[in-house]
Amino acid sequence: MWKMIKDFHIEMSRGLAGRPSSLKMLPAYVDRPTGREKGKFIALDLGGTNFRVLDICLKGSGASSKPRAMKFVLKKKLVKGSADPLFGFLADSISRFLRKEKIGPARAIDMGFTFSFPMKQKGVASGSLVLWTKGFNVRGVIGKDVVALLKKALDKKGLGRVRIAALANDTVGTMVARSYSDPHCDVGVIIGTGTNACYAEKLANIRKLNGPKMGSMIVNIEWGNFNKLEKTSYDKKLDASSDRPGEQVLEKMVSGMYIGELARLVIKGLIGKKAIFNGTSSPGLEKAYNFRTEYVSEAASDRSHNLGKMKSRLKSLGIPNSTLEDRRTVKSVCEMVSARAARVSGAAVAAVITKMDPTLSKMHTVAVDGSVYEKLPRFSKNIAKALQEIFGRKAGRIRLVLTKDGSGKGAAIIAAVAASGE
Ligand code: GLC
Repeated sequence: MWKMIKDFHIEMSRGLAGRPSSLKMLPAYVDRPTGREKGKFIALDLGGTNFRVLDICLKGSGASSKPRAMKFVLKKKLVKGSADPLFGFLADSISRFLRKEKIGPARAIDMGFTFSFPMKQKGVASGSLVLWTKGFNVRGVIGKDVVALLKKALDKKGLGRVRIAALANDTVGTMVARSYSDPHCDVGVIIGTGTNACYAEKLANIRKLNGPKMGSMIVNIEWGNFNKLEKTSYDKKLDASSDRPGEQVLEKMVSGMYIGELARLVIKGLIGKKAIFNGTSSPGLEKAYNFRTEYVSEAASDRSHNLGKMKSRLKSLGIPNSTLEDRRTVKSVCEMVSARAARVSGAAVAAVITKMDPTLSKMHTVAVDGSVYEKLPRFSKNIAKALQEIFGRKAGRIRLVLTKDGSGKGAAIIAAVAASGE
């Protein structure tokens, strides 16, 4: 973990200076909010299996209303197709939301757009996609401004009155949402389908940015792409058969998109060594990505004497006659894959915090969201344990706080900051 922290710092500094690095260190053109931001905003959230639209009222003084929200499922053909159908669908969904919530033409609409992919920004209200991650592969978007693409689709639907005031990565949204009521919050982390983090950096340290050097700005690290990590043979196999070999190395060890597949590859390896299931596999276990991350959760939470839940899960995967010994082995495989993911995340959090505050001289809140962090048994505990191993008692200065659905609210707050800055 210490080696990882050291390499992480080197890569962060390189990325901030605009030199080649596995960490892109993308400036977000927004700083932490004051908590006094006010007004009604629509927030959009794109980055996983659903597109969400929310209506949020920020009350100032760190409070906000419970958002009204709608979810729209993104079909596979949309996330692997071309730009027009995807942005057309987003515009349609927004229009349905406005109709359902009876938000008529009388209300000016300012939107905050959470777009959970790496993007290069030149200001808070625009950004061009650097690359797709998490299985998205939509033609004609890389290098283009996603706000302009959405605006064009909205205009086509007669929604020209909608203004996209802010664009943010989900980590930035999550950090900003927590910061609204917590002045100690200076890191945002997502550990879900993908994984990434952002933090508050001094402008003087963002050497690739020209302009004022006073104050600070949030930087999207894109830590999923960190590549100074020791790979096992399973990591290498997963990478080689992935959409983009060589990219998102840390994400492939940590995030929900890959944890199940890693466990499957280890299980297959053990079958090959005749260490489990008498050396017999099944079509269900041979199929890539068929062992889902939810099954890893299920295995880790199965505390029954005969591991009954796992027995039926294995049955459904075509292994009807597992022994208790087999199931114990599979359970520990799942726990190990998950524990490594948590320790890698813990070391990454430690690296980000010590970049800002090498001696841990103050308190830090880390706002965290994502299904892996929230749902995988012992995941958050294992991160806390890793931080304790690294920092000893000083780990008490770091608080990880689950910030559910923060990214939508954060986008609204950023839109408010942007709107008030005019
Ligand atoms: C992927 C994306 C990143 C996002 C993360 C969590 O790593 O590249 O932008 O923040 O997933 O959703």
